Amino acid sequence: MSVHEEFDAWAEAGKDRGMEQRHWHTAKHALARMPVETGETVLDLGCGSGYSLRALRETAGVGRAYGLDGSPEMARNARSYTDDSSVGYLVGDFGDLPFPDDSLDHVFSMEAFYYAANPDETLREIERVLRPGGTFYCAVNYYEESETTHEWEENLDIEMTRWNREEYRQAFREAGLYVAQQDTISDRDVDIPPAEEFPTDDWETREAMVDRYRTWGTLLTVGVAP
Ligand SMILES: C[S@@+](CC[C@H](N)C(=O)[O-])C[C@H]1O[C@@H](n2cnc3c(N)ncnc32)[C@H](O)[C@@H]1O
Repeated sequence: MSVHEEFDAWAEAGKDRGMEQRHWHTAKHALARMPVETGETVLDLGCGSGYSLRALRETAGVGRAYGLDGSPEMARNARSYTDDSSVGYLVGDFGDLPFPDDSLDHVFSMEAFYYAANPDETLREIERVLRPGGTFYCAVNYYEESETTHEWEENLDIEMTRWNREEYRQAFREAGLYVAQQDTISDRDVDIPPAEEFPTDDWETREAMVDRYRTWGTLLTVGVAP
């Protein structure tokens, strides 16, 4: 199945809002760290419901905000959740960003980058569209060290790239981005029941749940364009 078919089906079933709720737990911390100045331009790659741009417009005074998604239904839903004319949601692919060189101040992406057909090409595209000193905040829950996430690949009929932390840093550097920061953001909003309540519907053991949410959470890698 193609990425756009899979995520069109998710959007039509209203799952974009469910993703937003789950991802917000750690995305809000990544967004709060972005060095966005009033009036700057931000792109959200794989925007889903588009929540990150609505938040940045409210909290950081973003000037122009673009959400790009390969799923027309995701982009349609995102458009329907706002009447803010400074926020635009586009259909497009990570491999060919529809922006001129040096035209964006910041790029954000939550739980989407690893779906890129060619992640190295996507990083080169991000480096191309960022102005010098512009930043890329790349947040992923699916990565090598977070072992409980590996099974996601079996549940989805889409190619996913599973890099480890060093591979992210190396790929950023090879694309011409300086790595300014990398760390993991623990998800503290998910309640983890006491040991005697396991197994639950979703988790065999408490240890696995702690590993997923508290130990590994979201990997954030921050790149800066030279
Ligand atoms: C798991 S969802 C995450 C959505 C949102 N960022 C969030 O945090 O809820 C991944 C999104 O990336 C989009 N996507 C995946 N691969 C893409 C690609 N190659 N080009 C454009 N969008 C893509 C999907 O359509 C989907 O909406």
